[in-house]
Amino acid sequence: ASPVYILAVETSCDETSVAIVRDGKEILANIVSSQVETHQLYGGVVPEVASRQHVEMITLIIEEAFAKSGVRPGQLSAVAVTHGPGLIGALLVGVVAAKSLACALELPLIGVHHIAGHIYANELVHKLEYPFMTLVVSGGHTELVYVESEGVFRIIGQTRDDAAGEAYDKVARALKLPYPGGPHIDRLAHEAKEAVPLPRAWLEPDSYDFSFSGLKSAVLSALNTAAMKGQPLAPEAVARGFQESVTDVLVEKALRAVEAYGAKQLLLAGGVAANKGLRAALEARCARAGVPLLAPPLSLCTDNAAMIAAAAFLKYRRGQFSPMDLKAESSLKL
Ligand code: KG4
Ligand code: ZN
Repeated sequence: ASPVYILAVETSCDETSVAIVRDGKEILANIVSSQVETHQLYGGVVPEVASRQHVEMITLIIEEAFAKSGVRPGQLSAVAVTHGPGLIGALLVGVVAAKSLACALELPLIGVHHIAGHIYANELVHKLEYPFMTLVVSGGHTELVYVESEGVFRIIGQTRDDAAGEAYDKVARALKLPYPGGPHIDRLAHEAKEAVPLPRAWLEPDSYDFSFSGLKSAVLSALNTAAMKGQPLAPEAVARGFQESVTDVLVEKALRAVEAYGAKQLLLAGGVAANKGLRAALEARCARAGVPLLAPPLSLCTDNAAMIAAAAFLKYRRGQFSPMDLKAESSLKL
């Protein structure tokens, strides 16, 4: 069969990304233009600013993807795009760009759910076996997703307040670390010799849900109390205590879910999947339990378009195309 080339566009948050992937596996280009330096000035992502930057970057990044991959527009098989969930103005830029390309080149359009993309980032580097369980941990999501068969997702638990990455970013802000704070806390936690004791939100005994806002408040009040006593806490110890608290709950619930659902593998997905502490703890627990653990390489954990192309390839094979009036949806359901 002739090779399938999918061009994918991802603009759901603050990275403008375009990838060209062959046969759902081989990444020929995966250009990621991060707006992080701009948003750092504000300490977080400013939606209006994100949309404007996507508009400025998108055609350049598409051209760069063609140049890097050596693929010509005429060789493409389909155009894929993240159409939700995410920031509506940011999503719109990607959707309009993808539709224009698909229209001009007379190619099928494939709308992809952002979380399906994060999950299928694993497909780029691993052999997946159904059913599997996925721990999705990103800046906007914290979910346990049971994937019974290809493209059939069931969210069995999710955060009731902050996402894990969001909690990382808020605690980082309290420690006066730059945005996004996840990688900085990760680094500090590894340098720490001790950990500030912090609570774990287990919720009801049978629940697969998460909650991180109480932990965030506990960090803030520990910092304030110590400062008032004139004995400020070491940022490293706070980072380690926080990271251990988040990790303990994520690991415990993920393994319980694998067991309860008879999943063959545990997949890790989303930006926080880059966290070294989480990866190490999951590796240790999975090894003990005999559960195969799959995670994407770090560059495919955070937002990128190659993961969107990977998810789109599965839809392409099943002939699941989107209409040309595909809409951007900020709270699209998985
Ligand atoms: O998946 P992602 O790139 O964007 C969303 O879809 O949200 O995730 C971004 C999040 C940010 O909150 C960032 O702080 C976090 O992932 N993150 C990390 C690490 N690297 C990125 N959190 C903890 N440890 C890391 N090493
Ligand atoms: Zn993401």
